[in-house]
Amino acid sequence: MRYVPMNLAEPGMALGQDVYDGNGQLLAARHLILDKEYIKALLNLGFPGLYVDDEFTEGIRIQQIVSPQVRREAIRGVRELFISNACDEDSAAEEARIKKLVLEVIEDILRNGDAMYNMLDLKVYDDYTYFHSVNVAVLSAMMGAQMCMTKQELTILTTAAMLHDIGKKFLSTELLNTPKLLDEKEKQELLDHPRLGCDFLKQHFHFPSMVCLSVLEHHEWYNGEGYPLHKKGDDISIYARIIKLADVFDAMCSKRPYHEPVQPADVVEYIMGRMGSEFDPNVVTVFLNRIVAYPVGCEVELSNGQHAIVMENFSDFILRPRIKIVETEKIVNLMEDEDARNITITKLLI
Ligand SMILES: [Fe+2]
Repeated sequence: MRYVPMNLAEPGMALGQDVYDGNGQLLAARHLILDKEYIKALLNLGFPGLYVDDEFTEGIRIQQIVSPQVRREAIRGVRELFISNACDEDSAAEEARIKKLVLEVIEDILRNGDAMYNMLDLKVYDDYTYFHSVNVAVLSAMMGAQMCMTKQELTILTTAAMLHDIGKKFLSTELLNTPKLLDEKEKQELLDHPRLGCDFLKQHFHFPSMVCLSVLEHHEWYNGEGYPLHKKGDDISIYARIIKLADVFDAMCSKRPYHEPVQPADVVEYIMGRMGSEFDPNVVTVFLNRIVAYPVGCEVELSNGQHAIVMENFSDFILRPRIKIVETEKIVNLMEDEDARNITITKLLI
């Protein structure tokens, strides 16, 4: 299986993965042979790329940290909470649903042990917030598991991560998706979403108070320059410090109306450069152990001018995966092969 950016998708390619919208609706099933119409429709929906099966990448498997079904259910659950008119009769059922989804995410992560966050996410503009919320939950839970958190702690972390932006339900989609610069009033409105989210959760649900607090604190910076409370260091809950990092990573890697996706390797560099200022250094260290710069199935450009597909990542050497060269079909292990020492990856083609 390999990842193909949407602008390089061609009729005749076979889908390697089901494609869903934020409603959990199946748009195109695995094995479907793409034609012009499908490509146009997916392009119009804003999909950045697709996973396809082909002979060259046969045998390349992408390990899913959370099963597609759990992911889909979670996206649907978050979406419903975002669009519902919370009234107290519904909130008990919604709370139970979120609790169940959180538990399923945690169980998948614990079951998959030392899997790495290894996949490009196929989120679409309109449903961005729901896809993003679930990604932040998965990435946060992975970091929490790596830090040996108890199941109870992981539950608080994953719940807060899944609901971190719930305050945005009170903001207009125009404000959230506008490509233009915000004026002062709009900026203030946007900066208020952690507080709106925390108040909403407190008013309608019975989640542990630490969940609400972590939602409130998810834009705080480790050095005190964040918002809304300008808290610093360990005064910010560990859950919020983890969510902060997962949030920035996923947002930067995503295509948004106001920016193109940033290369994961560049996002990793950005995060490393902000250790101790924006991010908790300990959380960054844990993150670097779980993240990949070049996801499996993606095409990369090499310093010798050749191209390759990423086959496998190694947690201690995230910049030196095992790859299959497009031009020669040779398999090269950038971490171990002596004669590949002078080859580096220069670009991920996304
Ligand atoms: Fe946020």
